[in-house]
Amino acid sequence: MKKNRRDFIKLAGLAGAGVIVGPDRAMAEKSTERNHLQSFNMHGYRAPKLDRVKVGLVGIGERGSGTLLRLASIENVDIVALCDIVPGNVHKAMQSIDGFGHSPAIYTDGEDAWKELCDRSDIDLIYVATPWKYHAPIAVYAMERDKHVYTELPVGVTLEECWQVVETSERTKKHCYMGCGSCHDGMSAIVLNMVRQGFFGELIHGEGNYIHDRVNGPGRWERDEDNWFGYRPWRLKENVGRNGNMYPQHGLGPVAQMMDLNYGDKMDYLVSISSNDFTMGPKMKELAESDPYFESFDGLKFRGNMNTTVIRTNKGRTIMLQHDISSPRPGSRFQLISGSRGIYHADPPRIATSEEWTQEEEFKALVEKFTPQITKTFREKVSRAGGTKGNRSYERVTASDWRLIDCLRNGLPLEMDVYDAALWSVVTPLSEQSVAQMGNTVKVPDFTSGSWKSNKRGMDINLQEGGNTNLI
Ligand SMILES: NC(=O)c1ccc[n+]([C@@H]2O[C@H](COP(=O)([O-])OP(=O)(O)OC[C@H]3O[C@@H](n4cnc5c(N)ncnc54)[C@H](O)[C@@H]3O)[C@@H](O)[C@H]2O)c1
Repeated sequence: MKKNRRDFIKLAGLAGAGVIVGPDRAMAEKSTERNHLQSFNMHGYRAPKLDRVKVGLVGIGERGSGTLLRLASIENVDIVALCDIVPGNVHKAMQSIDGFGHSPAIYTDGEDAWKELCDRSDIDLIYVATPWKYHAPIAVYAMERDKHVYTELPVGVTLEECWQVVETSERTKKHCYMGCGSCHDGMSAIVLNMVRQGFFGELIHGEGNYIHDRVNGPGRWERDEDNWFGYRPWRLKENVGRNGNMYPQHGLGPVAQMMDLNYGDKMDYLVSISSNDFTMGPKMKELAESDPYFESFDGLKFRGNMNTTVIRTNKGRTIMLQHDISSPRPGSRFQLISGSRGIYHADPPRIATSEEWTQEEEFKALVEKFTPQITKTFREKVSRAGGTKGNRSYERVTASDWRLIDCLRNGLPLEMDVYDAALWSVVTPLSEQSVAQMGNTVKVPDFTSGSWKSNKRGMDINLQEGGNTNLI
């Protein structure tokens, strides 16, 4: 008994010193390490002001066509070039900006046509909304050619790609912005303001999800003659032979900003587990019976319905992220933030500072009180533009797009920088790694190379600078 205890103490001492770890865990920790010395700190970086922002867009599908309209609806933006491998997608999208005064060059000649677009010398910003595998290669190539980058989620699909965009951005001093509209969404910005003013006390825990039923419901599996259907073929394939949180950014972004990740705190490690797949496999079998296209998907191994990833930060906070895009249930993104003095819960939106939720009137008063200047200014711009142009809807201009252009025009730091892009994206490959090792701990790399300790807070919700870009 005595001997066992002595042995235990000895082992515990060695483990504490980092000498003893299980073989799987050691492997996981080693594989996320990187010998990176920050060559230039892109956090807080002020690029030279751009009076007009000249944009080239790559990938004009569902999201890209929406962004085309959003960007064209912002003053001082020139749409210079468009690229997609499907010419019809470009031509269809161009109709939406008819009359806005843009006449972009078009690149549709093959899988690498985007390189020609990036090679142009008259573009400031390259926007990327292609399938995920192209995001990092296009971002790196574009920054190398002196362009800022605005990419859709994620910035990269592997740990290596996340490092590549960080290293390229630091070396070229070009911004690499990953658009995460959830961060400027009305309630996220309001709750962020409450967090910063200490309403919730010391933050303890946050939750964010990508729960979005992409399997059930009308139109999900319909195809037309161009092979377009509710579930894009490339996105369907991303769910095969992989298991983890495939899309953490929407839920994570707001929580990361509330917890000052990359500027005051950082992620230390995560663990991740997934359920089995209960719906994708049966769906493929069902679809294959009536549509031969799906025969090749029948019998494949799909990502489990529910993935739960738990992250611990350096300051001892926890974040729970869930991903489920194949179960019939209502959607959910930024979900919850709780601290030593209170909690915000998104479904339905409510606040508590004790065991009881506040009454509706009190909730409304808090929302009013804590609506930040950035939200107020954006709403004013929308209403002023709508007022002068009649009934045009500005629902598709997000505060994120507007603020990105505003920051570039004013030479301000971007509110989500390359370190945020890499951190919010790397959760996917790291969660896959943990799932594959039965939920083992995986260390999260510090893309800021230690600068998180001294970096100033990002996301200027008080709009201390800029805010002078208008909507058309
Ligand atoms: N932020 C958000 O809320 C949001 C919403 C939807 C989609 N997205 C993201 O936007 C991206 C695109 O998604 P989507 O739903 O628009 O997909 P999509 O399939 O509708 O669009 C992708 C487009 O890229 C084109 N493309 C493919 N390969 C190309 C290449 N080599 N060169 C040029 N173009 C190429 C396709 O022809 C297609 O038009 C994804 O990263 C997705 O995750 C973000």
